[in-house]
Amino acid sequence: MSFSRFMVKKSIASIQAESQKGELKRTLSAMNLISLGIGCIIGAGIFVMTGQAAAQYAGPAIIISFVIAGLCCTFAAICYAELSSMLPVSGSAYSYAYASVGELLAWGMGLLLLLEYGVAASTVAVGWSGYVVSFLANFGIVIPKSLTTPTLQIINDGHDLLFTGGFNLPALLGVLMMTMLLIIGVKESATINNLIVFIKVSVVLLFIVMGAQYIDPANWHPFIPEPTPENNFGYGWNGILRGAGIVFFAYVGFEAVSTAAQEAKNPQRDVPIGILGSLFVCTVLYMAVAAVLTGIVPYSTLNVADPIAKAVDAIGLPWLSFIVKIGAIAGLTSVMMVLMYGQTRVFYTMAKDGLMPQIFSAVHHKYQTPWVNTIVVGLVIGLIAATTPIDILGDLVSLGTLTAFAIICFTVLYLRKVEPNLERPFRVPFTPYFPILGMIFCGYLIYGLLSNPVTVKFYLVYLVLGVIIYFTYSQHHSKVRNG
Ligand code: ALA
Repeated sequence: MSFSRFMVKKSIASIQAESQKGELKRTLSAMNLISLGIGCIIGAGIFVMTGQAAAQYAGPAIIISFVIAGLCCTFAAICYAELSSMLPVSGSAYSYAYASVGELLAWGMGLLLLLEYGVAASTVAVGWSGYVVSFLANFGIVIPKSLTTPTLQIINDGHDLLFTGGFNLPALLGVLMMTMLLIIGVKESATINNLIVFIKVSVVLLFIVMGAQYIDPANWHPFIPEPTPENNFGYGWNGILRGAGIVFFAYVGFEAVSTAAQEAKNPQRDVPIGILGSLFVCTVLYMAVAAVLTGIVPYSTLNVADPIAKAVDAIGLPWLSFIVKIGAIAGLTSVMMVLMYGQTRVFYTMAKDGLMPQIFSAVHHKYQTPWVNTIVVGLVIGLIAATTPIDILGDLVSLGTLTAFAIICFTVLYLRKVEPNLERPFRVPFTPYFPILGMIFCGYLIYGLLSNPVTVKFYLVYLVLGVIIYFTYSQHHSKVRNG
């Protein structure tokens, strides 16, 4: 048996031809793509995880964590932009891998994307549920705890799992709602997305402007709290690194723009603009939010399900806390939708290639969306959200996404070498340094995340199962391989 059969590739010409005869409608402009990006980026990362990471790991130095994670994403984003300008197709990183390093790694990339989109959507659904429950409580509607907590819980410093018997019902219902919107179709969904992006960016700006007036600089001291000896990733430099691995989640999603390339009007020009534009806007907002959040209350009080609202409560502005909750719910809703959208389109492309069952590429005759795919994805994401705690989910997403980003950076270098003459409407500047820096940053953040053993075990088992499925199903159905 020769190893080269796992290296079977799709030709770049065939990928470009596929994108031309795609069945999906071309409706998205550059602004739609930036909005799609922001819709996907600003979510549970800033509304939930920033506060928790500051409280447990980084303190006010979470601002530095944002810089590190943001740099990591910038290098990866630039690499994404080059690949997506060369290969304007649905499926993003999966398609890039198929055209460059071959089928087995493309399958591996599909597995990582399922973490980056599917599991990320579950994570956001948990954050969404936290703010919805808190919002309802303002009106005296209290949902029993057993219906808002996950079935599993991490104990013993990340070493063991406990079965709690809970079930996060609002998280499941939120996902099912999004599933219905996605089935109705891109155009309507993009319009709703634009509106929600407007609301959440306004709320974030309002928080920054209002909160800035209540900053007590004493809260920023010590800026980098002393490391805690009993936990080697608590505070100090390691805490900043661990924090960066967590808030990295806040940036996940910018590349969903590239998965929409097949539905973009002018993919070569607009996809790089969409990716870099949305990333830039979010980085600026995140650093400002992190500074204000840790400036208005002591960081140690932020380990709650709705940290931004809690911080606003602490300075005594109930109206602002109310608006923040609405903005957070709107924001988390749009993130869930774009992530689920990305996930369904990755499966759509994989099914077209024969690596997934054909039913995942069936397009609805009226709505022109992959509807069965969307229903299956929705149910699975919803059940994961209802049962699994947010810290496991968030770390899994970061681990999978960082691995995917490192492969993307590598792919740019690889393609420059083996396909130097291909047209590249957008080129990564300072090659090979930028892609190499991207890989180094990804590796460094992954190192910070290894401090959570349960997640690492989940991750490894998941990858092994995925490879088994490839060998027992996908390789036998691959269209590229079987001509
Ligand atoms: N970046 C997205 C979020 O923070 C996934 O929710």
